Amino acid sequence: MSARHALFPGTFDPLTLGHADVLRRALALWERVTVAVAAGGKQTLLSLADRLEMVRRVVAATGQGDRCRVVPLRGLLVDLRRELGADVVVRGLRSVADLEHEQSMAAANRRLDPDYEIVCLFARPDLGMISSTLVRDIIRCGGPLAAVVPPEVAAFLDGRIAGNGDHTGAGDGG
Ligand code: COA
Repeated sequence: MSARHALFPGTFDPLTLGHADVLRRALALWERVTVAVAAGGKQTLLSLADRLEMVRRVVAATGQGDRCRVVPLRGLLVDLRRELGADVVVRGLRSVADLEHEQSMAAANRRLDPDYEIVCLFARPDLGMISSTLVRDIIRCGGPLAAVVPPEVAAFLDGRIAGNGDHTGAGDGG
């Protein structure tokens, strides 16, 4: 059976150019892609509502919103995958460190769900140094975001920062 529906999970705090590239490539590989934005687990700078909104804007900008949904991930990844009927999980790999991390997460998920399958896409080399931590540092220091996040995310964050005055500690982790 060929895989048609991919689930792309992440914290997206915030979504970076690297994530957007993985999303674009996933849309070229699979008929349907669901992006799952993790609600809990990590303390985040940005609220779940903001992260969902940013991802939705990036999806809208691809012009392929008809085959790409954005949903919150509130429980286990394996449960959401089964609930959605997604064939594979897709993740980006930037480095050996990412590989080791993905390998152990995949092993744990496989243990929970024997049908769990993951496909990792190598990150574009010119985007490999971008992380959400780097973007959060730039936000905190008031630096330029255009080189590290898609325009839709930069515009959203600029609006948030202008509206808030204080742009730190905005997250609720879920
Ligand atoms: N481009 C840019 N950055 C990327 C990237 C790419 N292609 N791929 C990963 N990253 C970065 C992220 O920006 C993030 O950076 P940061 O640490 O600087 O913030 C980092 O890699 C980790 O990414 P994240 O999306 O937060 O992944 P994660 O490893 O924390 O896992 C879930 C997120 C949602 C997949 C995982 O927490 C999960 O499955 N949660 C559900 C609960 C569950 O099932 N747990 C059991 C799992 S074994």
